[in-house]
Amino acid sequence: MRERAKFKSSLGMLLALVGSAIGLGNLWRFPYVVGNNGGAAFIIVYLIVVALICLPVMVAEFVIGRRARSNAYSAYDKFAPKSKWKYVGLLGVLTAIIIDSFYCVVGGWTVSYLFHSICLDVAPETPGQSAAMFSALTGSTSQNLIYMLIFLGLTCGVVMLGVQKGIERSCKYLITILAVLIVVIMINSLTLPGSSEGLRFLFKPDFSKVTFKTILYAMGQGFFSLSLGCCCVLTYASYAPHKDNLLKTTSLTVTSDVLFALIAGAAILPAVFAFGISPTEGAGLAFITLPEVFGQMAMGKVIAILFYFVLFAAAISSAISILEIIVAFVMEIFSFKRVKAVAISSILLVALGVCCAIWGTVFDLFDKISANILMTTGGFLIAVFVGWKITRKDFEDEITSSGMHKVPRWLLVTLRFLIRYVAPIGVAAVMISSLAGL
Ligand code: PFF
Repeated sequence: MRERAKFKSSLGMLLALVGSAIGLGNLWRFPYVVGNNGGAAFIIVYLIVVALICLPVMVAEFVIGRRARSNAYSAYDKFAPKSKWKYVGLLGVLTAIIIDSFYCVVGGWTVSYLFHSICLDVAPETPGQSAAMFSALTGSTSQNLIYMLIFLGLTCGVVMLGVQKGIERSCKYLITILAVLIVVIMINSLTLPGSSEGLRFLFKPDFSKVTFKTILYAMGQGFFSLSLGCCCVLTYASYAPHKDNLLKTTSLTVTSDVLFALIAGAAILPAVFAFGISPTEGAGLAFITLPEVFGQMAMGKVIAILFYFVLFAAAISSAISILEIIVAFVMEIFSFKRVKAVAISSILLVALGVCCAIWGTVFDLFDKISANILMTTGGFLIAVFVGWKITRKDFEDEITSSGMHKVPRWLLVTLRFLIRYVAPIGVAAVMISSLAGL
């Protein structure tokens, strides 16, 4: 029996989790979704959803992973042998495969834009040019494939090196550089004349825009951004030492992710508004709108390089964590060595990634179902499992690291209540109401 990998330090584990959380979800989705759904009013809804549903689900995933010390599928089998619960783990692995397929295509675009911003130019002089440039990239199967393979190759390289030498070490560097650069970009944006309009779009509260749909968006955003419901936190937690403070790690991950999303909003939107351009969501924002902004900005070429590096670093540190869910599963279920497991997983991802790159409908379908359906369903089942299948004693033993960390009783009781009732009922209510078109 091979010895199971472990993170070297608590900080390394935290940065790996933060690396997984901070990704495209923070950089290209959050700012726009906030601005369009009531600004500060959405942020308040988001924080409530994160505190009452997302954080408890993260704690629940952590408890399963660290206690079971195995991949997503086998973890459930350890707690509930021969039951159907292991299919929740399998759902997590399938969700990871679906997310990574389109994530690698987008990761490829970040490589392409980083390369172009350094060697050529991505900041066009005339409006309209950036849209043409982006469709030239996305419309070309060969270019899509080449850049996706570079991105996936780099991701596989890191995962092949293992938990400590690959994942932990790369996330330490990537997250540190990322944090510094996003602050530099934000300061530059905030000093542009007319930038306050962007801040108003992001932060001005408009409670009339808050509806049931807003809560669904907030929940989908929270699950995607915090990498929940697809056994990512479970897999990383399975490499965490038992002595680590579980509540500290999870709450710091959530805080860093929310903070990063707000800083990213303050880095991107003020610049967009300062040049009188209207913001867009997703790929359009990062690859069409922002190049136009860089084209008009003083030092735009330098800022473009910094921005595309941030986008690339955020994407790859997330892609690494998604791949690890699949690799841990393949390694342990088929008793393969890490290198072989990475190779097999990557063949599958290339095949699906090509489908996403060629057919926009597959890309959109994978993107749509992952956050709002698959991850939320996974989160619901994870909360039910920990809330109702794991005994109070085991739950508290894991949270306190067998009494090593003093956690107030009220907090333990509240957390268990949130996991047992609030998270599953909340997720189910929001999903049902949105399916019913409320
Ligand atoms: N949290 C990542 C983002 O915000 O882009 C996406 C992600 C990473 C989803 C890891 C799922 C996952 F397992």
